Amino acid sequence: MQIKKKILVTCAFPYSNGSIHLGHLLEHIQADMWVRYQKMQGNTVFFICSDDSHGTAITLKSKKEKITPVQLVKKIILEHKKDFKNFNILHDNYSSTHSIENLSFVRKIYFILQKKKLIKKKYIYQFYDTKKNIFLSDRLVQGTCPDCNFKNQYGDHCDNCGSTYSAIQLINPKSVLSNSIPKIKKSEHIFFDLPKLELILKKWIYSGSLQNTVLNKTKEWFNQGLRPWDISRDKPYFGFKIPGLIDKYFYVWLDASIGYISNFKNFCTKNKIKCFNDFWNENTQCELHQFIGKDIIYFHTLFWPAILHSINFRKPSKIIVHGHVTFNGSKLSKSKGLLILAKNWINYLDSDSIRYYYASNLSSKVEDIEINLYSFREKINSDIVNKIVNIAARSSSFIHKYFDGILSSKIEEFNLYKYFVSSSIEIECFLEKKEFKMAIQKILKMADYANQYINDTKPWSIDKNKSKSLYKLQQVCSLAINFFRCIMTWLKPIMPNLSIKVEKFLNIVLNFNTLQNPLLNHRISKFTILYKRISLKEIDVFLHDIKKSYF
Ligand code: MSP
Ligand code: ZN
Repeated sequence: MQIKKKILVTCAFPYSNGSIHLGHLLEHIQADMWVRYQKMQGNTVFFICSDDSHGTAITLKSKKEKITPVQLVKKIILEHKKDFKNFNILHDNYSSTHSIENLSFVRKIYFILQKKKLIKKKYIYQFYDTKKNIFLSDRLVQGTCPDCNFKNQYGDHCDNCGSTYSAIQLINPKSVLSNSIPKIKKSEHIFFDLPKLELILKKWIYSGSLQNTVLNKTKEWFNQGLRPWDISRDKPYFGFKIPGLIDKYFYVWLDASIGYISNFKNFCTKNKIKCFNDFWNENTQCELHQFIGKDIIYFHTLFWPAILHSINFRKPSKIIVHGHVTFNGSKLSKSKGLLILAKNWINYLDSDSIRYYYASNLSSKVEDIEINLYSFREKINSDIVNKIVNIAARSSSFIHKYFDGILSSKIEEFNLYKYFVSSSIEIECFLEKKEFKMAIQKILKMADYANQYINDTKPWSIDKNKSKSLYKLQQVCSLAINFFRCIMTWLKPIMPNLSIKVEKFLNIVLNFNTLQNPLLNHRISKFTILYKRISLKEIDVFLHDIKKSYF
C-alpha cells in the first residue's frame, strides 16, 4: 500500500485593498484542484490562505472609503471568503495577517534574527512628499524600472522583469499622492542580511523545489549579487511596530511571509490539531507546496527560504509558479482597467466552467493564460456538453426505459472497460504533477473513445422487441455509463459542481480507488440536464456589462 502523505498547501495572500479577480482565481483554482486530487487519494492535506492586510495601499484605500484600515480589512476578508466559496475553493483556513498570532510570530522571529546577527541598521535615502509631508513608501512612488526601463512601475519591484530595487533607483520618479517630484530624505532603516545566507540559498534552489525557468530567474539574481533586505517602513504605515524603535513598522512583505506560519498555527489552535511542529520542523517529512504568481518569485525563492532557514524551520518542498491571466493580451490589473472580478463572473457564468478552462490551459510551466470568452464558450460547449455529458445523455434513457434504471449485472466486453480504466494511471500521474492540461487532453481522448463506442454500437437502432438484442442494449448502455463514471471521476477535482450532480445521477461517490470495479446491477437516477450550454448571448451580455463598468 502507498504511504499516505501529509501536505500543507498555500496560495499567495491577496491584498486587503481590492476584490478577487480572475487572476487571483487562477492560483486558487490551480491549488484547489490539486488539493482535491490529493484528498481523493487519501492524503492528509491542509490548504491555507489569508488576506495580506498591511501596507500603504490599504491605508490609502481606507482613507478613500473614510473608514479605518482595521474596518477595511474586516470588510474585505468577508468579501474575499465569499468569492472563494463561490468558486468552490476549499481553504481549510482563511485568516488575516493583521492577527495576534502573526504579531507574535513576527516579534519572535525578529528577535531570533537579531540574536543571530542577521539584522543590521543603516541610514537610507528615501523619497519624501513635501506637499503631503510623508515618506513615500514603495507603492507611493512610480517611475521607470532601472533594470528594464519599463514605465509606470512602483518603488519596490518591477511587474515586467520581476527585479526588486529601492525606490530611489527609479528613473523619473513621481509621488502617486500628489503627482509632485519627491525629495530625497534620510531615515534609519532595519535590514535583513540576505547575503549572509547566500550559500544556503544557492544549495536550496537546486533541491528540486523550483521549476526550471524559476530556477534560472533566481540564478540571475544571484549573479547580480544579493542585497540586504529593507524590512522596515516609516510612519504613517498600517502594520506591526518594530519593538524598541519609534515610529518604525515592519515592511508588509515580512509579516505577510510569516503569515504562512501563523495562519497554520491559527488553524491548528482553532481545530485542536497538534501537528504544527510536524509540519514546520527542519527535518519534517511533511510536504509544503506553495502556489504563487510569477510577479512575486523573488520573495518566495530568496527572502522566504532565507527567513525559514534562519529560524531553523523547514523550507518549501515546491514553489509552484504560474503565469498571468491576460485578457486581450494584457495582464488583468486595475490600473490597466481590465479587471474581471470573481463576483461579476459568478453573476453571469458558473464556476466549474472557469475551473475547467483554467485546467485545460495549465501546465507545470510558467505560462500566461489568455482569456478569450468566445473560445472559452466554444470549449465548454464542445468538451463538457457535446463530448462528456452527452455520453450519459445518449445511454441513460434506454437504461430507464427498458431496464428500470438498472445497469447490467455483467460486462461482456470487459476488456474494453479494462482498457478504458487503465488510462487512470496516466491521468492520475498528470494530476499529481500538476499537469492539468495534459490530464484534460487525455480525458478528452477517452471521451472521444466512449462516443465512438456509442456511435459504433448504435443503441438507438437496436431492436427493442427481442430479448437477445435487449440484452445487448443493456450491455452497451451500461458500459457507456461506466465510461462516463470514469471520466467524471477524473474530472471531480476540476469540476466539483458537476461532480455532485453526477454523483446524484449515478448514486455513487466518485473516487479513484473504486474505479477498477465497474458499476454492475446498480440503479442510476433519471437523467436531468447536468450542464447547461453557454449561449453566445450570455457572453455578449457579460462582455458588454464588464466593458461598461470600466468607464
Ligand atoms: N500580497 C502579496 C502576496 C503575499 S504572499 C505572502 C500579493 N498579493 S496580490 O493580491 O497582488 O496577488 C496575489 C496572487 O495573485 C499573486 O500570486 C499574484 O501573482 C496573483 N495574481 C494577481 N494578478 C494576477 C493575474 N492577472 N494573473 C495571475 N495571477 C495574478 O502579491
Ligand atoms: Zn523591470
